[in-house]
Amino acid sequence: MKLIFHGHSCIEIQLDDGTNILLDPFITGNPVSDLIADEVETDVILVTHGHDDHIGNMIPVGKRNNAKVVSIVEIAEFAAEQGLSSHGMNLGGKYDFPFGRVTFVPALHSSCYKFENQKLYMGEPAGIIFQAEGKTIYHAGDTALFSDMKLLGELYEIDVAFLPIGDNFTMGPETAVIAADYLKAKIVVPIHYNTFDLIKQDAEAFVQKLKNNSGKILAVGEMIEL
Ligand code: NI
Ligand code: MN
Repeated sequence: MKLIFHGHSCIEIQLDDGTNILLDPFITGNPVSDLIADEVETDVILVTHGHDDHIGNMIPVGKRNNAKVVSIVEIAEFAAEQGLSSHGMNLGGKYDFPFGRVTFVPALHSSCYKFENQKLYMGEPAGIIFQAEGKTIYHAGDTALFSDMKLLGELYEIDVAFLPIGDNFTMGPETAVIAADYLKAKIVVPIHYNTFDLIKQDAEAFVQKLKNNSGKILAVGEMIEL
């Protein structure tokens, strides 16, 4: 599979069979995105939580592509109300889709979505474990450091962990280093930084603090092939 970073928290997973999965599709309003909202193609959209910078272009991209939204139940129900095909899940649950296994795991954060001048409750924020082709990917979503990340490191042999390092809204670099320690992922990719001034961070300094040379900075548009 190929994992492509599209800026902020948006990750594209291209499976060997051609299936395309977009995680946290924040394109419009994302100053660092390299995607064109009206052209991006995807089969599945995974969403960690309800904030704008994660739900992003879920509705229009999902509709145009006839993509399936897989998310926390409240987000999945909202997607269905918008005419999308969706599958709702919740923390601790896993489901085997034709394209791979998805597990929703906790994240310490908040989750609501501003829609037509209302704030909609979007359930619990989450991280996502995605497993396919014998590989395990962890996208932490937006989260604080929490000690149960140790448990995730024991339960899963994580090949790639995407961890927020922007601080202010999520872990900063210092706590993300501890998270990486707990998770024991082979590759750690920093996300959710340098999109806006408020979350400006030195990713190079972050990866240098990680053990076993596990840090890997992805430039926008850059990929990891597993
Ligand atoms: Ni958020
Ligand atoms: Mn965010």
